[in-house]
Amino acid sequence: MTPGARLQAAIEILEQSFAAPFPADAISDAYFRRRRYAGSGDRRAVQERVFGMLRRHARLEWHIERACARVTPSGVHSHDGQVSGIPPAPRALALADLIVGERLDAESATRLFGSSPHAPAPLAETEMALARALQGRALDDPAMPDSVRFEYPAWLESSLRATFGERLAEEMSALNRQAPLDLRVNAGKRTRDAALAALAVESVAAEPTPLSPLGLRIKGAVRIGHTRAFKQGLVEVQDEGSQIVAALVGAKPGMTVVDFCAGAGGKTLALAAAMSRKGKIIGRLIACDTSPERLRRMTARLERAGAENVDRIALEVVRVPHDASPRDENDPALGDLANTADRVLLDVPCSGSGAWRRDPLGKWRFLPDQLAQLVASQHRILAAAARLVRPGGRLVYATCSVLPEENEVQVELFLEHHNEFQVVPIARAWSETLGGVLPAGNQFLRLTPAAHGTDGFFAAVLERGPPRG
Ligand SMILES: C[S@@+](CC[C@H](N)C(=O)[O-])C[C@H]1O[C@@H](n2cnc3c(N)ncnc32)[C@H](O)[C@@H]1O
Repeated sequence: MTPGARLQAAIEILEQSFAAPFPADAISDAYFRRRRYAGSGDRRAVQERVFGMLRRHARLEWHIERACARVTPSGVHSHDGQVSGIPPAPRALALADLIVGERLDAESATRLFGSSPHAPAPLAETEMALARALQGRALDDPAMPDSVRFEYPAWLESSLRATFGERLAEEMSALNRQAPLDLRVNAGKRTRDAALAALAVESVAAEPTPLSPLGLRIKGAVRIGHTRAFKQGLVEVQDEGSQIVAALVGAKPGMTVVDFCAGAGGKTLALAAAMSRKGKIIGRLIACDTSPERLRRMTARLERAGAENVDRIALEVVRVPHDASPRDENDPALGDLANTADRVLLDVPCSGSGAWRRDPLGKWRFLPDQLAQLVASQHRILAAAARLVRPGGRLVYATCSVLPEENEVQVELFLEHHNEFQVVPIARAWSETLGGVLPAGNQFLRLTPAAHGTDGFFAAVLERGPPRG
């Protein structure tokens, strides 16, 4: 692909990403599946530009707005100082990214448009004026408000400050960087050292993760799905933070464990491994989710991990009604599970704000009414799942969110209404399950990209005892 064709591909992927509710990497994968002629170098270059534009989105928009306002009245902007005929956002972003992000001079940047048959169409006069107005600007500008400079939605400012306080800038910068690729070793098949050696045979370099005893962090760019180690189920892709949440459940052979929001089984697989002896799950592991499609996707992963007996013997896939339904709390499908579970993992649907490293567009799509809906849904799911915990059993509430509304505020509200549950201080839960010393938190676990190198995760371990007073 020519440089112009790569630029046009990035613009098209961005257009599709803005129009569809999927992460940009899924859109990009689908885009290249339909264009087999593109080589791996092309893919990488285009993806880097797409993700670069998403990670610089607020700053680029800020510059575009100001550049537009400064363009002199020559038919390219309206009387109130705003540009008329604003170019389509992804083209403007691409132009701004070349000039402000890459510091290309305006002339070289504009020449890329219309430079070859597959390049973006030549720039209109409005766009040429924008290019000239952007010339010489530096990406970071002291006049930018923090939400622009550190690339987060302004409406979440107070929530993010409540979580991070003075470390907000540092954490937001870390949340805006590319995440590493982490793997969880399938302990039922290999030790971490043996998995490391198996990957090395395939020239995949990795190192042990600092916190999770089963984690490996890949060095460099690897298509892990193509390796034998992955195909043979020795490793699964899972962020270190997610591994830790699964480990905090403390699932053991012989237990009844419910993964209440199991999705496609990221954490179910880790629970299955923890409950297995000689490749067989001992006890009962039940995966629930409202999405039958996600549960279906779990089957292939369980097979690869050698945990088929989850399906045939131990795993019951229970469908609970959609979370919009008030029947959640009294779902008949959960009836016989009430008061039986030793452990319930509740990996609730959330903003995903802790995973913005992987989905930078997610933060710009996320809106206040969605947060309100999620919080209401989490509240209901908590109440529904709590019924399953036996006296003395534990409920682990987890999110990949960094917003207090979805985390400690949610748990505190739950405790107000369920005085039979008590918080297990996280240091205790950590030493009982992972061993060693807790890296962060007091009552609850909070992992963050800047402090721990993981996605942002929150977990509360709650134990059911007799009702308090
Ligand atoms: C954060 S995801 C789970 C990810 C999964 N545990 C993993 O580790 O890969 C949240 C899941 O909750 C499911 N969900 C939404 N509403 C639910 C409800 N009322 N009851 C159970 N699951 C629900 C969603 O379909 C989604 O799969």
